[in-house]
Amino acid sequence: MVATTSTGEGWSSRSAFILAAIGAAVGLGNIWRFPTLAGESGGGAFVIFYIACVFLLGLPLVLSEIFIGRVGQTDAVGSIRRVSAQSKASPNWSIFGAIGALAAFLIVSFYSVVAGWVLYYAGVMGGDLVQAIMAGDPFRGALAGESQSQIQQRLGDMFASPGLLLAMHLVFMGLTLYIVARGVSSGIEKAATYLMPMFFVLLVGLVIYGAVEGDIGDAIAFLFTPDWSKLTPQVMNSALGQALFSLSLGVAGLITYGSYIKEGSGLGPTSALIAVADTCVALLAGLMIFPIVFAVGLDPAAGPTLVFQTLPFAFQTMPGGALFAFLFFVLILVAAVTSSISLLEVPTAWGIGERGWSRPKSALIFGTGAFVVGIACLLGYNIWSDVRPLGFWSLFAETDILDTVDGFTGKVMLPVGALLTSIFIGWKADENLLRATTGLSPLAFSLWRFLIAWLCPIAVAIILATGLFPAILGGQ
Ligand code: PHE
Repeated sequence: MVATTSTGEGWSSRSAFILAAIGAAVGLGNIWRFPTLAGESGGGAFVIFYIACVFLLGLPLVLSEIFIGRVGQTDAVGSIRRVSAQSKASPNWSIFGAIGALAAFLIVSFYSVVAGWVLYYAGVMGGDLVQAIMAGDPFRGALAGESQSQIQQRLGDMFASPGLLLAMHLVFMGLTLYIVARGVSSGIEKAATYLMPMFFVLLVGLVIYGAVEGDIGDAIAFLFTPDWSKLTPQVMNSALGQALFSLSLGVAGLITYGSYIKEGSGLGPTSALIAVADTCVALLAGLMIFPIVFAVGLDPAAGPTLVFQTLPFAFQTMPGGALFAFLFFVLILVAAVTSSISLLEVPTAWGIGERGWSRPKSALIFGTGAFVVGIACLLGYNIWSDVRPLGFWSLFAETDILDTVDGFTGKVMLPVGALLTSIFIGWKADENLLRATTGLSPLAFSLWRFLIAWLCPIAVAIILATGLFPAILGGQ
């Protein structure tokens, strides 16, 4: 007999779960946030530390979250409570499910704003493609005839227009809300089946293009040659935050998705697949963007706008660029949608499981709330550009609204969520339950237990403390 979840939903197969989880992991975090942070943090040392975080800390946490959901079979808070009950631990541990749901809510608010930028660029490139076709030259480069500064200017113009940003944010959040309100349907599973492979092919194609046309040598040197003096506590903190963000950890997202697994084991290999696929996409995105950054002389430390400045240049000189530009922005959008629905799903499942709301009601409440928070984020790019929400805290003294929500969730909430998850799984959860549910070999099980009980809590606590409070190290 197939057990049903308390929300009454489930994946149609194991591969559907894997695809949905990879879809949740691969998103703006890989294509936008990773290159942004790698560029800002000086490259190699950040990247190598990031990869270490993914496999030593992230992977054990992926397995832990999926385990909790698999056992719990309901929203994150309820699932943790159930694991606690079966392990004779305090039900209060479920607090980290609630922290996760709050973090997911905050993340989806700015995630939708950034996805709105992608949507706008997809529209611009779509219009350009139509023009190319009308002119009888469908395979020309993108934005033919525009100078580099004109292309740059498009980004500035977009940021200067709150109405435009708002409209894009509305469309994206509306789409996310609509899909979540309808449930984890087979439609999403099918879409992921077709669109994710297309996304991979195009990404690899663009990496090859960047290698031929851009400065791949400089990019590889930048991304993989570590200058360890750049590995400051803050850089470690953002690398850890990025590893957690990219793997969708610390927000109870994988607990929620794991709760829709109806049967079966193989949780270990599944977790490894998610981590490997996600990391490959991030590195490929870096190898796509940085060759172009160096070839056209942009500053790798440009920040959140980096990706939007580089890609249009590449597409302009590329044969078929108008077509590829359009396709590429559409595919980033697809990747963003499969992630944003997983984010909104966490608080939505909480509302269903803990408050007894209907799915549409719960999705509407949290989707609307996140939309409103997102409005503040987008106004931070124009009329509220002077606002520094956490300006009293040296870490966020210069940070605008969107970057503050991003930075606070990424550097504070996700590590705290990860810390509590690792202590819970490493020290509180019943060992037999862990062994039986994960189905790991004895060796893999011991390794996992060591990493989750010792390395994760200690490393995350140290990185968190020294990153947030540099004074601990005696520095400023
Ligand atoms: N992992 C997603 C990305 O990289 C973002 C995300 C974070 C999704 C947390 C779900 C939960 O874009």
